[in-house]
Amino acid sequence: MQQDVNVNFGNLLLSLSDAMNLALPDLASHGIRTAFVAWRTGRGLGLEPGPMGRLVAAALLHDLGAISVEEQERLLANEEREPEIHCIRGAVLLDQAALLRGLAPVVRHHHRPLEEWGGAARTEDFLLAQILLLADLVDRSLDRDVHILLQSEGVRNKVRTLAPATVLPDVAGAFLATSEAEEFWLTLRSRRLYSTLLHEGPIYSQQVGMASLLEISGVFRDIVDFRSRFTSTHSSGVAQSAVLLATILGMTEPELRLMQVAGDVHDLGKLAIPNRILEKQGGLTAGEFQIMKQHTYYTFTILDTIGGLRQVPQWAAFHHERLDGKGYPFRLDRESLDTGARVMAVADTFTALAEDRPYRPAMDSGRIAKVLAGMAEDDKLDRRLTRLLLDHMGDIRPRVRETQAAAREFYETRFAVVG
Ligand SMILES: [Fe+2]
Ligand SMILES: [Fe+2]
Ligand SMILES: [Fe+2]
Repeated sequence: MQQDVNVNFGNLLLSLSDAMNLALPDLASHGIRTAFVAWRTGRGLGLEPGPMGRLVAAALLHDLGAISVEEQERLLANEEREPEIHCIRGAVLLDQAALLRGLAPVVRHHHRPLEEWGGAARTEDFLLAQILLLADLVDRSLDRDVHILLQSEGVRNKVRTLAPATVLPDVAGAFLATSEAEEFWLTLRSRRLYSTLLHEGPIYSQQVGMASLLEISGVFRDIVDFRSRFTSTHSSGVAQSAVLLATILGMTEPELRLMQVAGDVHDLGKLAIPNRILEKQGGLTAGEFQIMKQHTYYTFTILDTIGGLRQVPQWAAFHHERLDGKGYPFRLDRESLDTGARVMAVADTFTALAEDRPYRPAMDSGRIAKVLAGMAEDDKLDRRLTRLLLDHMGDIRPRVRETQAAAREFYETRFAVVG
C-alpha cells in the first residue's frame, strides 16, 4: 500500500501561516496579506521565479519567531521594544528544516531599515528583506474598521516618506506603482485572498515528501512548545511516547512516521490560545476552559486544510476525545476513534502527567499508573493501550525523558538565550 504523504508545499505554507495568526482578530491572515503585498511589489521589480518563491514563503511565515499572542499584539501596535528578537528566533527555527532554510536570512532582517544595512553587501536576501519590511508595514498600517479604499492614499503617503532612509527607493516605487489601482486594495482585503495566492501566486508547487514533512513538523512543534518554559518539551514528549507505544503495538514504519508528525503538531491549535491561559497557575475558570477547548478544533482544521496528510489530522486532533463520547470538541466515541487516535490520547495524558506543570510538579510512575488505570477503567482511555504503556513504562519513560532533554537543550541554548 502506498503510504507516503502527498502534500503541496504552497498549501502547507498558506495553512501554517493562517495558523500563526489565529489568536488575534486584528492579525487574522496578516502573513497572507503581507505575502500578497510582497508578491505584487516583487513582480513590479521583475523578480525571477526562484527569489519570488522565497520572498512569498518568507512573507507567509515572517513572524514565526513571535510566538506568544502578547508579543504579536505588541508588534502589531508597534510597541515591541526589541523587535529584532523575533527575527533572530524566526531564523533559528527556519534553519531546522532544509526546505525552509533559504527563508531564514530574509526573515532575519525583515525589520532592518535601509540605513542600518550600511556598507553590507547588497545581496538578493537584502532586496527580499527590504520588500518584506515594506509589505509588513503596509499591512500593519491598515485599520480593519475603516473601508480600505478610504485608507489607501494615507498608506501610500506613508510609504513615500519611508524612502530613502527605511526602504530602497526602487522598492517603494514598485509598491507605489502596483498599489495605484483600486483592484490592489480590494484584493488585499478580499476573503478570497488565500485561494488567490494558492492558485495564482508564485508559491512553490513542489510536493513535500515524508523526510521534509518530518523536519517541518518539528519546526511547528517548537513554535507551539517554545511559547513558555513549562511547555517547551511537551510535544516532543508526546510524539516520542506515541511512537514508542505504536512501535510496541507493531505499527509499520510509514505509520510510525505519520505518528511522529501527528505528535509534533497535536497541539498546533494552541497557537490560538493566549499565554495568560496557557501559563495560568492553578485551575482554569469555566470560561477559560471553553477557550482552551478550541485548540484541538483548530489543530484539525489547519491540518485538514493542508490536505494529503493521510491519518495525521485525526491522530493529532482527537487526543481529547474519549471512548465514552464525553471528550471534546467533536464528541466522538469508540466507534470513530481508531487505534492511532487512541494511542495519541494515551500518549498525551501520560506525557502531561509525567512533566512539571505551572500548578504541580511531575508525578512519579506509581501515581501516573494509578491515574491512567483509573481513566481506562472509566472508559476514557483505551484499556489495552493503557495496559501496554504501563507494562513498558520502565523503558518508555527514560526514553521520553531523553528526547525531552534534547528539546530543552535546544530551547535553552538556541531560543531562550536570544533577547
Ligand atoms: Fe515582524
Ligand atoms: Fe491538547
Ligand atoms: Fe498536548
